[in-house]
Amino acid sequence: MTSQSSEFDVIRVVLGSPHVVGGAEEELRAGLAERPRRIPHRYGYDATGSALFEEITRLPAYYPPRSERRLLRAHADEMAVLSGAVELVDLGAGTAEKSEILASAMDAHGLLRAYTGVDVSPGPMAAAAHRFAVRWPAARITTVHGDFATALPWLQGRGTGRLMVMLGGTFGCLAPPERADFLRALRSCCGPRDHVLLCLDLYDPVDTVRRAYEAGCAGERPVRRMFALNTLAHLNSAYGADFDPACFEPTVVYDVPLRQVRGEIRSTARQRVTVARLAMTIDLVEDEMLLHDVIQKFELRDLVGELASFGFRCRRHWVEEEFRCAALLLS
Ligand SMILES: C[S@@+](CC[C@H](N)C(=O)[O-])C[C@H]1O[C@@H](n2cnc3c(N)ncnc32)[C@H](O)[C@@H]1O
Repeated sequence: MTSQSSEFDVIRVVLGSPHVVGGAEEELRAGLAERPRRIPHRYGYDATGSALFEEITRLPAYYPPRSERRLLRAHADEMAVLSGAVELVDLGAGTAEKSEILASAMDAHGLLRAYTGVDVSPGPMAAAAHRFAVRWPAARITTVHGDFATALPWLQGRGTGRLMVMLGGTFGCLAPPERADFLRALRSCCGPRDHVLLCLDLYDPVDTVRRAYEAGCAGERPVRRMFALNTLAHLNSAYGADFDPACFEPTVVYDVPLRQVRGEIRSTARQRVTVARLAMTIDLVEDEMLLHDVIQKFELRDLVGELASFGFRCRRHWVEEEFRCAALLLS
């Protein structure tokens, strides 16, 4: 289902049903059938998950948002001018707090005509869109409540001279098959005058990475642990699953050779879980891991090669020196 409405000068588009947007079901079915079983990244984000993610970004040890903000503040002008883009398309918009730095630079150079946010979790994006509509009343502001798989074909041909951005480490959170699907769909969506800006994390010192992802796993308010368990609660409400969070234990592993931080949820008992809406039954043995977060730390040269194989050319890149967040401008 596609519906469109306009309120407070924001055009709102919903792709799919409001309950399970986009082409989510097959992706979840395939992930749960993999070994180890994998819950796609998007299920971290319902209203509760988005709020917990915001809390994680404020943990002092969690360096990526600080590094990215610093990078954008230093180079947003250059990014705006080099792309010459008149529309900012924010893929996985969230609160769009850092996207606002880019929108602001585009506006300062007289470029900003439109902002389009895309997200499976509509709440924070709606608040951001309202903020943008107030700040830039002449710009066309649109929110697309949908997943990348559905939104990118929808965006194809709907505009030109766009800067398609993916911030907040979202790109690194796409597991390799999701990343390939995403890049293919993004390439098809982009016209000759569009640019892409990807922000991501380069390989970091092991201790810093471990500290960043172990923060919030325990203590008075273990927000990373809550975020992990909320993924199961999200599947219960969206798919009629019967995960009992009390029978699962989240852990975080930094796999140094693979440059992957993996958020895993361990089944503490042998148990059967039913996912009613998928008519699927999962038998878990004691200690079996469900992968709910795979966060890739990239090697710049490998990534540029990977992007080229999908038809993207890196025009310029920037790296924040202390925590090594990188931004790649692609055409
Ligand atoms: C890591 S957060 C980043 C949020 C924001 N861009 C930032 O910089 O803080 C990832 C965002 O992408 C959204 N998201 C995750 N998977 C998605 C998918 N498949 N399609 C659309 N949005 C998705 C989440 O709801 C979340 O808001």
